Amino acid sequence: MRFWILDFGFWIGLIRSVFSIEKASPVPTDVGFSTSSCALESTQSKIQNPKSKILLLLALAACGTPESGTQQAAARLEVDLDKANPERLLRYYFGGYVGQDGGDPFAEGLLAVEDGRFYVEMEALEAKHPGLGAALRDAAGDRRLEWEELADFLNASYYTARTLPPTLAAFRAETPYQQAEAAWFRVELDGVMSTARRHVYVAEVALRHALRNYKEQGERLMYPVGAAIVGEHHLDGALVETTVMRKRADGFWDFFTYGPDGALAARTQALPRSLKTPTQCVGCHFGVKLFEPERSFPGAAPDGPHGPRAFYVDEALRDRDVVVFFDEHSKRSDTILGIYNTLFVARLRTDRRAGRLSDDDTRLLESLGL
Ligand code: HEC
Repeated sequence: MRFWILDFGFWIGLIRSVFSIEKASPVPTDVGFSTSSCALESTQSKIQNPKSKILLLLALAACGTPESGTQQAAARLEVDLDKANPERLLRYYFGGYVGQDGGDPFAEGLLAVEDGRFYVEMEALEAKHPGLGAALRDAAGDRRLEWEELADFLNASYYTARTLPPTLAAFRAETPYQQAEAAWFRVELDGVMSTARRHVYVAEVALRHALRNYKEQGERLMYPVGAAIVGEHHLDGALVETTVMRKRADGFWDFFTYGPDGALAARTQALPRSLKTPTQCVGCHFGVKLFEPERSFPGAAPDGPHGPRAFYVDEALRDRDVVVFFDEHSKRSDTILGIYNTLFVARLRTDRRAGRLSDDDTRLLESLGL
């Protein structure tokens, strides 16, 4: 019966192989996509003799029309990620496929959970993203979907599904972190993500939002929807790539990378190790591990295996009271690992001491008791 669990792509593939029609541009197998999810693919590639090819075709034709139902691929695909918190990961990733704002993939019918097992509803996925249902089925190879297979699928389809700005220029047109520099808090550091020097930009309006809502959010620093945090990676004075997190309406962040050519890139450069976007971003950002230089701040951090770990900030911003107050890096309330609110508040306190703080910001500090 498995014979008939074949799709259109299989027939095209078989006809091509019989008549030796070359595919113009084969889809690379390492992304886990092929044009068919055919159980007979290996058989197909072994059939070299034209006579046997035709015999096989005839044999298949002689089997008659497949019974309805059995030719239908299963309506749902089981996902078995073998991860500590599969539901959170699935919510995050498939939430991104729900629509532009993100959303709850369970409520939207994209995912289902039954007896502790998770399933992708293939029709719902296909309806939202034509072609991706077949791609996911191919990635799974007709079995349960495992993490590596899902990761290949996500890395290959995430950017398109999210309709992110395709180039750095397009992103900058939406998010003018360079032009309106005064309204963007900027910090320079050497950290764990890259051996390049990072220049991180966060809109001050986003920081003030997090600070104003700190108490009512249960002492958590939560950024507003649409907030973008931009990490420019500089090497020998040149911008080599840009990594971005932008907050979706469902509360999760999109991760994306622009390469040296300014186009969306599937991975960061190997500095010191290439990170596939988004699947290799999530590990650190969703995790609990502490990183330098944040961990030692306001003290200096020891060098890492690939060079310094350091914040390049004014001494006045190394304000221990504020560091202790927010405990921002280890709390990472919004999966943000940097300590931008800590540094920003330290700067506001410096401005207050110098008598140049605005009334609004003075009240903001007072409301926090700082
Ligand atoms: C090895 C752990 C690790 C991985 C993997 C990682 N990050 Fe980060 N990321 C950090 C740390 C630590 C910070 C805070 C300091 C900094 O900016 O380097 C950070 C900061 C950021 C920031 C600034 C906002 C923030 O949370 O402070 C962005 C944007 C970002 N990362 C994007 C990405 C993207 C995109 C990827 C995947 C390509 C990625 N990260 C992978 C550890 C990681």
